[in-house]
Amino acid sequence: MTRQYDEVYERSFKDPDGFWGEAAEALHWYRKWDQVLDDSDPPFYRWFTGGVVNTCYNALDRHVASGRADQLALIYDSPVTGNTVKTFTYAELVQGVARFAGALAAQGVGKGDRVVIYMPMVPEVVIAMLACARLGAIHSVVFGGFASGELAVRINDSKPKLVVSASCGIEVDRIVPYKPLLDEAIEIADFKPERCIILERPEAQAPMTAGRDLGWAEVMDAAQPHDCVPVAATDPLYILYTSGTTGQPKGVVHDNGGHMVALNWSMKNIYGVEPGEVFWAASDVGWIVGHSYIVYAPLFHGNTTILYEGKPVGTPDAGAFWRVIADHGVSVLFTAPTAFRAIKRADPAGALIKKYDMSRFRALFMAGERVDPDTVQWAENILGKPVIDHWWQTETGWPIAANCIGLGMLPVKYGSVCKAAPGWDVRVVDDKNQEIKRGEIGALVVKLPLPPGSLPTLWNNDEGYVKSYLSEYPGYYKTADAGYQDEDGYLWVMTRTDDVINVAGHRLSTGAMEEVLASHPDVAECAVIGVADQLKGQVPLGFLILKAGVERDHDEIVKEVVSMVRQRIGPVAAFKTATVVNRLPKTRSGKILRGTMQKIADGKAYKAPATIDDPQILPEIAEALERIGYAQGPRAAAR
Ligand code: COA
Ligand code: AMP
Repeated sequence: MTRQYDEVYERSFKDPDGFWGEAAEALHWYRKWDQVLDDSDPPFYRWFTGGVVNTCYNALDRHVASGRADQLALIYDSPVTGNTVKTFTYAELVQGVARFAGALAAQGVGKGDRVVIYMPMVPEVVIAMLACARLGAIHSVVFGGFASGELAVRINDSKPKLVVSASCGIEVDRIVPYKPLLDEAIEIADFKPERCIILERPEAQAPMTAGRDLGWAEVMDAAQPHDCVPVAATDPLYILYTSGTTGQPKGVVHDNGGHMVALNWSMKNIYGVEPGEVFWAASDVGWIVGHSYIVYAPLFHGNTTILYEGKPVGTPDAGAFWRVIADHGVSVLFTAPTAFRAIKRADPAGALIKKYDMSRFRALFMAGERVDPDTVQWAENILGKPVIDHWWQTETGWPIAANCIGLGMLPVKYGSVCKAAPGWDVRVVDDKNQEIKRGEIGALVVKLPLPPGSLPTLWNNDEGYVKSYLSEYPGYYKTADAGYQDEDGYLWVMTRTDDVINVAGHRLSTGAMEEVLASHPDVAECAVIGVADQLKGQVPLGFLILKAGVERDHDEIVKEVVSMVRQRIGPVAAFKTATVVNRLPKTRSGKILRGTMQKIADGKAYKAPATIDDPQILPEIAEALERIGYAQGPRAAAR
């Protein structure tokens, strides 16, 4: 018997126009598309060309018009501010968003203008994003855990007319003032935004710059509600910067039409959720998961979404997720494996879950990094519900592979992200772009065109888009992940093929950290690798070669570089350890052997690559790592 998944998957390729055209009928269009898939300018494929839409209308107004006005759209749950809970019906949220859109318009923001949003997890961040969408302005949210240097890079690249920020964020019990970081970012950026709108939170006051900064409350008081502005389906909705190989992040663009069609489709077919149910993505709006599954997808689909300002542990304990699920009747939770590792570590027996009513809970989805089977099985045991590992990226906007429970759940294989989702033609190729046998590891690539909702290009950088993603494997999108497909068609995502690491589900560039280390006056050369960490999956580790004649205490220098990374990239980098070495292992052409260093640090078996310049350096690296507590394990046996 053919499974529903197989039929749907096949149809998505045999008849993409019919498949996605039907999915698009569920949404509101001011003008329908001329073409579903526009392949007139490969490799730049577009979806729904000729269509005219508004994303905010589809997320909010459409539901008010069709009987969901009094249903909750958004629940804000904030244990870090004395257990505040605020709710917004669809009618209330549309009012707030229309008003803030009016406030932005009053400052001259219109269609195509960029707005940078640098905010904590408060309802106003959702309002600001949707208000941009309402005006056809392009938002670029910057995660609060990034410091001023990273914010400045994003301001320079996106050139925002206006920045929306807040006086502070709250990290468990630590107030993090955002405004000084914003001021510093604007100071160091070459591009200067004309205006900032600052949400004053009671926990901290923001120093305001006269003539440039305005208060959120003040602009909202003066604003008139603004209606939705029709935009082309192919116009950009947002830019989200993500780490690549270099210190310069990539401005990933997502458009309006294809984005809403794919995300709306995914809610029922992948996540198995019906409109009206409560869906919770425990992530942050600064990441793709937050964009797609805190804000846009649940609202497109008429769900209630949760904005949680807290942590999985420590706010106040490892029962926090169960408490939120029980209090708000969550059906499906989506989070990063690291959150579950933190809960498992604090409450291994799962005792706290017994205090809560989990009767409405149906499934847990995890993504963002490789999930260890132990954590999946532990979660299955304590929840007694399906735990689904699924694979996606900032660039793809929605899952490339998943156990699509809305299409009938497939058997689980621990460690696999299950099968490619409809619309995603995933292949495994070798470095000559030839498909390889099932079971063999190669580069995971996706045959073009990518489905709707995925990136059409990089911001102002078509050339960079082609260079980063499309040139290495002609005809395919390079995911920069390596893995394999097994005999049953299940995909196994094993590792990144570039210098990107995943720290607590946060994607970071080791290249960006190396740039900071290299700028220390005593450092001649450096390398940063990701090493295995039981809680965060990976953490960065730095190697420093000092300039000749530097006689200062090594610990002092290490402390200084640690502080520099925190200052310039931000605390989210979790860069806490570095060690001084005399030499770095390199190939004869001078490329640092980061992969081999990583194996040594993780205590894995390693062999000196044939291209190594001087194999004698490897034991030196192992000794340096042992001194700081790494390189334990089977490595010794391999030597
Ligand atoms: N604003 C300011 N600082 C922030 C921040 C924000 N929005 N988010 C994180 N930070 C800071 C943290 O306070 C921490 O600072 P510290 O070095 O002073 O302790 C640092 O950045 C690292 O943060 P984090 O990675 O969150 O680690 P943690 O030790 O605070 O918490 C976990 C560990 C597992 C609880 C946490 O990583 C977690 O909840 N992860 C979920 C991951 C996730 O949602 N990923 C999104 C993709 S799905
Ligand atoms: P981001 O763009 O921040 O979402 O990070 C995307 C990267 O995270 C992917 O390229 C993978 O390396 C990794 N990733 C995401 N989900 C998974 C998963 N389920 N299993 C393994 N790796 C994953």
